[in-house]
Amino acid sequence: MRIYKASDYHDMSRKAANIISAQVIMKADCVLGLATGSTPIGIYKQLIEWYRKGDLDFGEVKTVNLDEYKGLSPNNVQSYHYFMKTNLFEHINIPMDNTYLPNGLEENVEFECQRFNGIIDMLGGIDMQLLGLGHNGHIGFNEPDEAFEKGTHCVALTQSTIEANSRLFAKDEIIPKYAYTMGIRSIMLAKKILLVVSGIDKADILKDALTGPVTPAVPASILQMHNDLTLVADEAALSKININELTK
Ligand code: GLP
Repeated sequence: MRIYKASDYHDMSRKAANIISAQVIMKADCVLGLATGSTPIGIYKQLIEWYRKGDLDFGEVKTVNLDEYKGLSPNNVQSYHYFMKTNLFEHINIPMDNTYLPNGLEENVEFECQRFNGIIDMLGGIDMQLLGLGHNGHIGFNEPDEAFEKGTHCVALTQSTIEANSRLFAKDEIIPKYAYTMGIRSIMLAKKILLVVSGIDKADILKDALTGPVTPAVPASILQMHNDLTLVADEAALSKININELTK
């Protein structure tokens, strides 16, 4: 595991964006696994800036996102489709046909899970998967459970996740209780994983995920088993971890 300690959120965003940029430069037609949430927003802003300066070309890049709320249309401002469009896709030269997310409107769960697994296979797997970390250790929407879910599946979100995400919804909006998410197997098959974490509120769960037992009760703990994991986190998020111990 490689750990890059950033001074703050801005520094974390720049360091992580540098790593993604290197991937895009080294393999112009790479497959990027992308994430939503507050954490990657600064990374996307930085990538947009470098694209505008002419340093990055997304013309051949393909992207596949981790998750989408079940029941939300791509035009719903709370959907992850909308998030990706407004925070990244519409500001860079990626062809929209090269971007893939689960279809939140598909009622047939089995059909949608198979379709999305098929897309990941069709793309030939993921070169670099960007991941944020949920407060309960979730990655994508793989919530704490008794077993790791392998492929794409539909999850009932935990109360803590619903509450954490409620900050992004207006008072009268219905917060989705289910989501489609890429499974742990697909995430672990990514050639490289880039985990980004910021803030003191994530310090305990980051410590559990990286130094505790590998258990589906803390889904991110499985990342300890990946052979090309890079963590970029700010000082606050790393404050409970002894980095020297961990990278020994
Ligand atoms: C969300 C997303 C995750 C994300 C996590 C952390 O619910 N489904 O993919 O990584 O929670 O979000 P944030 O970065 O806003 O803390």
